[in-house]
Amino acid sequence: MILIKNIKELIGVEYKPTSKLSGGNMSKLNTLTNAFIFIENGILSGFGRMSENKHLGILKNNKGVKQIDATGKMVFPCFCDSHTHIVYAGSRELDFIDKIKGLSYEEIAKRGGGILNSAKKLQGCTEDELVEQALLRLDEIKSYGTGAVEVKSGYGLNPDGEIKILSVIKKLKKLSPLTIKSTFLGAHAIPAEFKSRPEKYIDLIINKMIPAVAEEKLADYIDVFCDKGFFSVKDTERILSAGQKYNLTPKIHANELGHTGGVQVGVKYKALSVDHLEYMGDEEIKCLLKSGTMPTLLPGTSFFLGLPYAPARKMINSGLPIALASDFNPGSSPSGNMQFVISLGCIKYKVTPEEAINAATINSAYAMGVEKELGSIAVGKKANIFI
Ligand code: NIG
Ligand code: FE
Repeated sequence: MILIKNIKELIGVEYKPTSKLSGGNMSKLNTLTNAFIFIENGILSGFGRMSENKHLGILKNNKGVKQIDATGKMVFPCFCDSHTHIVYAGSRELDFIDKIKGLSYEEIAKRGGGILNSAKKLQGCTEDELVEQALLRLDEIKSYGTGAVEVKSGYGLNPDGEIKILSVIKKLKKLSPLTIKSTFLGAHAIPAEFKSRPEKYIDLIINKMIPAVAEEKLADYIDVFCDKGFFSVKDTERILSAGQKYNLTPKIHANELGHTGGVQVGVKYKALSVDHLEYMGDEEIKCLLKSGTMPTLLPGTSFFLGLPYAPARKMINSGLPIALASDFNPGSSPSGNMQFVISLGCIKYKVTPEEAINAATINSAYAMGVEKELGSIAVGKKANIFI
């Protein structure tokens, strides 16, 4: 048993755990000052104020308690980063220079750079090399407070390559202390050899990749980059209905580059989350209000690509929940630092620290399907916390 005592402030306390917080409730972040928590076998077994002696009585009869003094310190539930692409090979400094010279993300992609560049690099790597690189990134994000992370494929772009990334993620689940969810994103970009007949690539996703991924249980979720210059709403519908046959719940890349209908198609297919949302109108907001889909915002991408920032304030004021995630990837968001993401949320979206912390904990836990075990300080949840 572990006791963390004399905690200056314990953040994100829940007595009756919720699955997510929406609208005005997003600003409610319960905290306890001068607090303690007990941890047994990795699970939060109790918490309260130091003045509640009845709990601390346990100490007298139990010599096996490891005590940690958190005087002057705060304790948080770990961040859940519900959208990343951290299994990638090498880096993309050439894109970075092109961006400085004025090319947009779409233009770089059209020239065969961007995602296709990462796909080329990944082809030449073994699973072990990818595991090694990804473990370093996992360690790095852990040091910034992330305790759970969703990781997407999408740099394979052929059956072997996609299976390779998903197998790497499966290994990471075993090797890393972080809670990891995996998402099949074969529909991340159209490979160059399919440029003149993109439907054939979609056929390949539907007929080869999805069945193989599902058979080997390699993915928890399925994703499509439904946006201008990538996959259309019609393509997305085909792919999501193929995934449905294997019970693959969608998490969609939507409305990053335009009002493309990505939000609506995500909601129609009961996506767990729709992510990016740099382009959001009243229609998209109305559609999300009637759904259980978590709108997930990735301010790091707007920052690194110079894109418009998602209208987070308007979304919350309309009654929606929002989740925050990093989108950690070598192209559009080369950082998985959730502290930076939260700061950007406050500075650029004008959401309050309370709203941003809820967005990066309980709501992002919901966006990756782990809200019952993570995302807040509640008895019975995993002791996935940082001091
Ligand atoms: O979420 N938008 C699509 N995919 C990633 C970028 C991946 C990359 O550029 O390598 C994103 O921004
Ligand atoms: Fe992404």
